[in-house]
Amino acid sequence: MSSKTIPQLFDLSGKTAIVTGGSMGIGRSIVERLSEAGAAVVIADIDQEHGEQTKQELSQQGRKIEFINTNISKVVDIEKAIEFTIKKFGSIDILVNNAGVFPFMPALNMTEQDWDRVLDINLKGTFFFTQKAAQKMIEGKHSGKIVNIASIDAIHPTGNLVHYDSSKGGVVMMTKALAMEWGKQGILVNAIAPGGIETPGAAQSSAAMIKAAGLKQEQIDEMGKAFTARIPLGRQGNPDEIATVALFLASDAAAYITGETIVVDGGYLLS
Ligand SMILES: NC(=O)c1ccc[n+]([C@@H]2O[C@H](COP(=O)([O-])OP(=O)(O)OC[C@H]3O[C@@H](n4cnc5c(N)ncnc54)[C@H](O)[C@@H]3O)[C@@H](O)[C@H]2O)c1
Repeated sequence: MSSKTIPQLFDLSGKTAIVTGGSMGIGRSIVERLSEAGAAVVIADIDQEHGEQTKQELSQQGRKIEFINTNISKVVDIEKAIEFTIKKFGSIDILVNNAGVFPFMPALNMTEQDWDRVLDINLKGTFFFTQKAAQKMIEGKHSGKIVNIASIDAIHPTGNLVHYDSSKGGVVMMTKALAMEWGKQGILVNAIAPGGIETPGAAQSSAAMIKAAGLKQEQIDEMGKAFTARIPLGRQGNPDEIATVALFLASDAAAYITGETIVVDGGYLLS
């Protein structure tokens, strides 16, 4: 029998979270849910304009939100974001590694620069942000929660995304490896593998695909329809449907889950 009530299990008051890529899309929804649950949240994102806008809108509702311009592929930026968070709020209890890029392109056209950009943001950035946050959690002698946003592409390729699929496969394995390594120190590491979620990034990726693969808009629309037709729930997801799962993993309701990847895809991978 749990000694905590349901509201207590999901209460993040007094906790501090960092959400990478929190300026828009899935990340912004995660910022909204974690701050609604009472956490102070730092948005670490390369998009200053939308980050400041998110901070302003949520601060007006009485939430504790800060923004720091961060390119997660640069370790020096990660260190600045960590120090900024400690200075503003005193500790780091939750890290959501959400920032990621998914530029569709055929493998045969991919350059070294294309490969490095995706791996540096999605895999290297996720690792070093996690490492630096975990160091602070361990120094502060308190438990911590890491939530990585992976993708169904870590499990099943969507097509024309070999660099992305490789990076997200790495995120899933990194989740397991760090969960094993840090369990005894009370750091829980989990991941979410979203399916198709309607976000600004997903909309832009269609345009990029048209350019990179030389596809026509009608071909992209057909691919989109075929993707949605495979989803048992019959529709793409919305960012809040990922944010509520991130809230669960960041909360005491998930106190005995570590190393796990939760697929949130409307059943896409079943078909
Ligand atoms: N949308 C989907 O269908 C979908 C599906 C599976 C997984 N995902 C994953 O979810 C995460 C969020 O995706 P989204 O659709 O909300 O994307 P999005 O493009 O709408 O938002 C991504 C955010 O990350 C930020 N970002 C990008 N590069 C960055 C960098 N180097 N440093 C810091 N911030 C950076 C952007 O500025 C933006 O605010 C990504 O990791 C993505 O791979 C998305």
